[in-house]
Amino acid sequence: MRSLVVFYSRTGTTRTVAHEIRKCLGSDICEIKADNYPRGPIGYLMAGWDAMAKKLPDIKYHKGMTGVPSGYDVVLIGTPVWGFTMASPVRSYITQNKGRFRKLAFFCTQGGSGSDQTFSSMEELSGLKASAKLALTKKRVKQGSYLEYVKGFTGSLNGS
Ligand SMILES: Cc1cc2nc3c(=O)[nH]c(=O)nc-3n(C[C@H](O)[C@H](O)[C@H](O)COP(=O)(O)O)c2cc1C
Repeated sequence: MRSLVVFYSRTGTTRTVAHEIRKCLGSDICEIKADNYPRGPIGYLMAGWDAMAKKLPDIKYHKGMTGVPSGYDVVLIGTPVWGFTMASPVRSYITQNKGRFRKLAFFCTQGGSGSDQTFSSMEELSGLKASAKLALTKKRVKQGSYLEYVKGFTGSLNGS
């Protein structure tokens, strides 16, 4: 199974999970970058505003990486929850690649709630049902007590 992990992370939590998923599946990986949401209060406000307004910011990929889904059996898309929905750079990515995904799985990190709404909006936007979903709190990731959840998530995609 050829898999690609594509994710956006503003403060590093979703990045930690994405790299763990990549390790479990032996996937290729691609980090989405956007200039609009720097760390700090201004970036936070911009992020909240754009998520609510369903903005589609310009995105690029981290150097040497590509998020092009063709050739992959499954693309695993990761996002932080922003205002009970996906982060705006992930909205841009799915919008740009709609119709090019064979199979999708989603993962997110959050403060405490909003993952169900986030996954529903990602399914609606992509036009595909996710084959697997994983929601983790930032606290769990920081504590390091999330690995068994990642194994369950990746295992369900492998059919084990
Ligand atoms: C603008 C903004 C809105 C957020 N909205 C929510 C939310 O609706 N529900 C929630 O549980 N956490 C929310 N959070 C917290 C993030 O989802 C959480 O900290 C996440 O793990 C950050 O991921 P990252 O470190 O990969 O950027 C929000 C964070 C930001 C910046």
